[in-house]
Amino acid sequence: MTENPLAEGLALRRTPDPCALVIFGASGDLTHKKIMPALYALAVRRLLPPQFAIVGVARTGDTDDDSFRKDMETAVKQHARDPFRQETWDELAPMLHYISTDFADAGGEDKLHDLLAELDEKEQLGGNRVFYLAVPPPAFPTIVEALGKRRDSAGWTRLVVEKPFGHDLESAKQLTATLLEYFREDEIFRIDHYLGKETVQNMLALRFANGIFEPIWNRQFVDHVQITVAESIGIEARAGYYEHAGAIRDIFQNHLLQLLALTAMEPPIDFTSDSVHNEKVKVLRALHTPGPKSVVRGQYGRGFVEGEEVAAYREEAGVAADSMTETYVSAKLYVDNWRWADTPFYVRMGKRLARHETTIAIQFKAAPHPPFEETASEGLRPNVLVVHVQPDEGVSLAIGAKVPGQGMTIRTVHMDFLYGGAFRTGMPEAYERLILDTMLGDSTLFTRADEVEEQWLLVDSIVAAWQRDQPAFPNYPAGSWGPPSADELLQRDGRAWRRH
Ligand code: BG6
Repeated sequence: MTENPLAEGLALRRTPDPCALVIFGASGDLTHKKIMPALYALAVRRLLPPQFAIVGVARTGDTDDDSFRKDMETAVKQHARDPFRQETWDELAPMLHYISTDFADAGGEDKLHDLLAELDEKEQLGGNRVFYLAVPPPAFPTIVEALGKRRDSAGWTRLVVEKPFGHDLESAKQLTATLLEYFREDEIFRIDHYLGKETVQNMLALRFANGIFEPIWNRQFVDHVQITVAESIGIEARAGYYEHAGAIRDIFQNHLLQLLALTAMEPPIDFTSDSVHNEKVKVLRALHTPGPKSVVRGQYGRGFVEGEEVAAYREEAGVAADSMTETYVSAKLYVDNWRWADTPFYVRMGKRLARHETTIAIQFKAAPHPPFEETASEGLRPNVLVVHVQPDEGVSLAIGAKVPGQGMTIRTVHMDFLYGGAFRTGMPEAYERLILDTMLGDSTLFTRADEVEEQWLLVDSIVAAWQRDQPAFPNYPAGSWGPPSADELLQRDGRAWRRH
């Protein structure tokens, strides 16, 4: 294959300091499907520090270093984006260690403490630590307290906290208070893995590296914005979690509001963590609480997804037969500031929708006075700039163009930029970037306490309004685009969801 000059420098980043990465929840799904495959991808690209140790921590007692390494090898073979390379694995495997401990027992953390001290000595890790909490939230406080009380290593410490960060505003504040008892805010890395996605970061490049978009990125030129996080999968084996979360806590509170914040924020003065967080939090604060008519919730019934018949949500294992948990939410939101006043942001997200698709569409106002005959421009729609977050990552701009021929007929065509074609390189997984950033101490792509709190404030007010009336569930068939009331939400404004 020919060299691609555009790919130059793509992988050039600082290498992190020597350190130990301690994964709590080493026997869990996240470690197998995301964390370990990401570490392997970093190893393939030689982005891990040369002096490095990975310590898996879980309660499983019959695991030792060898069986942990075998288990992780299988995980890498199943889930990594790169083909399995024995040489890479042979370098990585000896860095893996396992200890079984239950932090709920008094002194449970001693084993970890001793192992880390030994590794510091043997591998010259400098006492640097990343503690990754990939465990269910009820386990957070015990582990954090145990770690916090034994902060005696010489180097830096960072704490990575997986979502969900709280269940509502109150519990999120409580959790932050617990973390802050032992760690500083700049040591806390709250994961929202959407921020690690290349295309999400590209939103910043698109907006702030190009002079042509910013002048029209406002209420004067933009008619409305549509953000879609559609999944065709159901809840898989996660009923225990999902029944309590629902779409609003699972996707809306975090991924969706972050996409909105990046779309609506003002240009930051630089790309440092605080500058970016400051601008995002202003957007989240400016979000107006939507009235009950501006929020639609849904739950899927039986249907067909990609040709296969699938069960209703209420028929999924572990879900109550009369569950009122929503698997779909759409809403009309307003950002109350000078840039966006009166410009609706229509957002929707759901499980078991027709297609897997995450997009941010900026719909511009129509040309004020097209000088063509009406019939000539029947096939013309206003300009739309669509950021395809996934799949088919890229950006497309819908423009009007003349259809070749003698007459003057105008139709909408698309100018497309596709990552695969332009850079001829595979897309890194979000977790690769995020894990590397924690080791580098860069929290730009993580969420700060105040952002999370603003997100909960909005969600809490929506959920509180939901208590007053109960819709008839299920109200959309699996494989569709959601409940009819979601279409009405836009029809009332003379608009429609983007066609697919
Ligand atoms: C997770 C949610 O945060 O994001 C899941 O808990 C969802 O329910 C997932 O499926 C979607 O992530 P991605 O990267 O596949 O779009």
